[in-house]
Amino acid sequence: MSITYKDAAEIEGMRTACRLASEVLDYLTPLIQPGITTLEIDRLASECMQKQGSVSATLGYQPPGYPPYPASLCTSVNHVVCHGIPNEKPLKKGDIVNVDVTVIKDGWYGDTSRMFVVGDASIAAKRLVQLTFEAMWHGIVKVKPGIRLGDIGHAIQKFAEGNGFSVVREFCGHGIGRKFHEEPQVLHYGRPGTLEELKPGMTFTIEPMINLGRREVKEHGNDGWTIVTRDRSLSAQWEHTVLVTETGYEVLTLSAGSPPPPAFVAA
Ligand code: MF3
Ligand code: CO
Ligand code: CO
Repeated sequence: MSITYKDAAEIEGMRTACRLASEVLDYLTPLIQPGITTLEIDRLASECMQKQGSVSATLGYQPPGYPPYPASLCTSVNHVVCHGIPNEKPLKKGDIVNVDVTVIKDGWYGDTSRMFVVGDASIAAKRLVQLTFEAMWHGIVKVKPGIRLGDIGHAIQKFAEGNGFSVVREFCGHGIGRKFHEEPQVLHYGRPGTLEELKPGMTFTIEPMINLGRREVKEHGNDGWTIVTRDRSLSAQWEHTVLVTETGYEVLTLSAGSPPPPAFVAA
């Protein structure tokens, strides 16, 4: 398969799906407190999607070589890098958790994730969460026709490593549309001027996974999904779905509760 370029009507479909995904996170935000289990978060999200008339893209999702994913979203706590499966363990004060929501609405996919600090956390954990958010936005602001994917990856890598963190290499952003994961791959590291040139109508995610320690990851246990840092250091991730417009970018996964962009992002 190849890159799909969305026309005006298709972009409307993407806008709706992406806003709904973000609204699931808005709904969950006040509920993510010490004592709640990630399984409860999953159940509440599933109810929210039902009310929206959307469907989880992750429930039963089964790429080649994987078992079917068993939940309506991913919850990745502390040293879990991505694809954490909701479970019955309560969140506790000081945890950091990524909640990653992908919904399908009228055949269109919207994919977004945010970090949550449970109660309060260490200064190091909060700094990782905040700087990973900024790293994502350093990638987003590059987006416009004519630049290349390597420009995005480079911006993220330079910022993250410049702050003493490391960038996970094994997982990346992705084209998205009528499929969950389409071409192109969107690496969160790289060299300026390399890889695919951006053109209007492309829709893809930017979703850097940034580690406090070393960048290496490994599979955790035998659930076939959960990825953790090899050195057990904390990991953070944020994700938006973006559209390449004629002049720049539009972030599609925005809603009333989205954290505002960092100050360096022009209004
Ligand atoms: N939402 C993840 C992404 O950003 C993919 C999760 S696949 C799952 O691409 F099966 F683990 F849910
Ligand atoms: Co994604
Ligand atoms: Co996602």
